[in-house]
Amino acid sequence: MRYTSIPNTLFIKNRSNYKKKLTPNTITVLVSNDVKHTNADGTMGFAQNSDLLYLSGIDQEETILVLYPDAYKEENKEILFIKETSEHIKIWDGEKLTKQEASQISGIARVEWIQDFEKILQYMAFEADGFYLGHNEHLKRSTWNQETQQDRMIAWCKKKYPLHQYFRVAQLTRDLRPVKSIEEINLIKKAATISIEGFKRVLKAAKPNMHEYELEAELSYCFTKAGANGHAFSPIVASGKNACSLHYNTNHNLCQNGAMVLLDFGVCYGNYNSDTTRCFPVNGKFSKRQKDVYSSVLYCLKKGSELLKPGISHTTYEKNMASLIEIELIKLGLLNAEDVENQDPNKPLYKKYFMHGTAHYIGLDVHDVGLYSRVFKPGMVLTCEPGIYIEEEGIGCRLENDYLITENGHENLTQDMPIEIEDIERLMNH
Ligand code: GLY
Ligand code: MN
Ligand code: MN
Repeated sequence: MRYTSIPNTLFIKNRSNYKKKLTPNTITVLVSNDVKHTNADGTMGFAQNSDLLYLSGIDQEETILVLYPDAYKEENKEILFIKETSEHIKIWDGEKLTKQEASQISGIARVEWIQDFEKILQYMAFEADGFYLGHNEHLKRSTWNQETQQDRMIAWCKKKYPLHQYFRVAQLTRDLRPVKSIEEINLIKKAATISIEGFKRVLKAAKPNMHEYELEAELSYCFTKAGANGHAFSPIVASGKNACSLHYNTNHNLCQNGAMVLLDFGVCYGNYNSDTTRCFPVNGKFSKRQKDVYSSVLYCLKKGSELLKPGISHTTYEKNMASLIEIELIKLGLLNAEDVENQDPNKPLYKKYFMHGTAHYIGLDVHDVGLYSRVFKPGMVLTCEPGIYIEEEGIGCRLENDYLITENGHENLTQDMPIEIEDIERLMNH
């Protein structure tokens, strides 16, 4: 592993909190994600299932976690199944976890080889009344049209044990994972620190007529050098009007002299993520109009993020941000005050220039699990990301920070990433 190992006390604590929420006498079975293929013998690399990682810390393919807190035999209360390594695997792929290492990482005493899973589960299954199984319940899940390892486990388990009751792991982890513990906050802070270095490096490198991907390369260098897993997501390096396509990430265009560049990027460190957006003029000097638009968005970020505090609902937070943006759009001459006054509330005019949400949970996933019907609680980490996109002027501006909700308000985890116009211009012209 590249990252400093995470104390297993985190996973022990996570399991303990998880078990408190279980229906009695049930078995939880969580499987790792598939390694996805490309072509020929190529693979896309491995990303662990976040719930499995949260409850075990095991960052390896072909892993199964079984939790049965009410098992009458102590040895069956927690079992981790891992891939059995061999001389052949060692020669071609390198070391895989030994049972001792998996036990040390997870804090789980009993570790077995994965080929023994079915047999061992069979000994426990009929004592139990039900199963908790994992599934991707994210609102915008990317797996809706493909079969995953979890789908196969659900089908297998229901076929094998059709008369048991079935429950959803995600229903529990969606409440647990949004509230971060200190170890998790420190990992997000570490990701944020690396992001800040990456952004400063981009500011130093940026010059007119560079390709957007050359700026992406500056980030990649910085992240790998710092021991991060890598980018949290494909970074958006969008100059000029490209910034008005919200998920533009081909990054293949030239940054023309006079263009403003939108950089939406994140670092994944120890499987925890940052997610930040900054904008800067590629020639080091904001034009008057860029400055005005940027200042409006910065004002909305500062003012809107004030509502990131315990007890506030997402709806209140989003509505407040929409009102702030609306006023700025009028000031920028993009909307007419009278038209806004008379607008259809179901089709607000600001949506032409600000068409996305303001916040999402962040953690093991960039768009982390958690319900948006819940109010903010201490320990949650959320983004704030207002934007104004004016395609006809070739200007797209978004600014995004990551905030930890505290007892009395919040802490901006990305405070040290330059954001003031003067700081950005100074760093670019240094
Ligand atoms: N980069 C995606 C987002 O900001 O949510
Ligand atoms: Mn975001
Ligand atoms: Mn982002």
